Amino acid sequence: MVDKSDITVHPKEVIERILSMELVRVTERAAVSAARLRGHGNEKAADQAAVDAMRRELNKLPINGTIVIGEGERDEAPMLFIGEKVGNGTGPKVDIAVDPLEGTTLCAKDMPGAIAVMAMAQAGSLLYAPDVYMDKIAIGPGYPKGVVDLDADPADNIRALAKAKGVAPHEITALIMDRPRHADLIAKVRATGASIRLITDGDVAGVIFCAMPQETGIDIYLGIGGAPEGVLAAAALRCVGGQMQGRLILDTPEKVERAKGMGVKDPKKKYEMDELASGDVIVSATGVTDGGLLAGVKFKGDVIETETIVYRSITGTVRKIHGEHRELAKFKLD
Ligand code: FBP
Repeated sequence: MVDKSDITVHPKEVIERILSMELVRVTERAAVSAARLRGHGNEKAADQAAVDAMRRELNKLPINGTIVIGEGERDEAPMLFIGEKVGNGTGPKVDIAVDPLEGTTLCAKDMPGAIAVMAMAQAGSLLYAPDVYMDKIAIGPGYPKGVVDLDADPADNIRALAKAKGVAPHEITALIMDRPRHADLIAKVRATGASIRLITDGDVAGVIFCAMPQETGIDIYLGIGGAPEGVLAAAALRCVGGQMQGRLILDTPEKVERAKGMGVKDPKKKYEMDELASGDVIVSATGVTDGGLLAGVKFKGDVIETETIVYRSITGTVRKIHGEHRELAKFKLD
């Protein structure tokens, strides 16, 4: 008799299931290290602590990993730079995207929404994105393909989304980063009657919020944020459904050249979600400060508590993992 509980997939097409749990350890440790510096007003120190912890944990994993989204290129980042090899070299060849501390300012000011996040996918599956901006649009699952488009007028996108949802435009909420560059976008969205939630930082979670509109109240993400964050967000959104498009903003000849060096042939290309992140992808994120997606690290004397969310594209499984760390608390380890 066939055991239906065992979804059979070709072993070469998937990343070992066990690695999902390994990724949890990586983001947990990065989050705890950053959280020790929460509210200290030192963005660099918090980021460095998260980077160090993440690198140490990544190098314990049975993988042959290459950082494709990292802290920068080799000359500007001492570790977790794009192209750096990570893992103990014994396992599958995988692409790794990391943002050890997404929301450095949020952490330094102890404001909501800082997370430690990473994604892993089969080698060649994640876009090598230079550290530039990306114009992004994202919505959650359940809509017809192409209902919104990065190249459409923002007002038309809001109206099309409202129609597809069966509501009036004023019942749509868009999430946009609070930046002067978005003044025009904000005006256009507001003119439709839609509401806007502005965030100061943290658009990986901002995009993910679209996937759970019942909980977050967010229907659509619009605007310009970091390209690395765009790839990480696309990886997570792919696991739960939803639609996303992104375009790198390569507005100087230097950026075009840099992107070319990383394999970007068409500098104006509009990437679909599964071009940003394809294949079997696992994404793990741990809260550093309390936020809408995750609770932050809690230091409770003998125990350190963490909350992590793990997504896997091949099964669409999402797990929230509450961690209680006693060794870490006892030895005050990073
Ligand atoms: P950092 O953690 O690197 O500070 O990034 C935070 C962030 O808010 C991202 O979520 C977002 O994609 C990006 O910065 C936007 O960049 P900018 O602050 O330059 O507008």
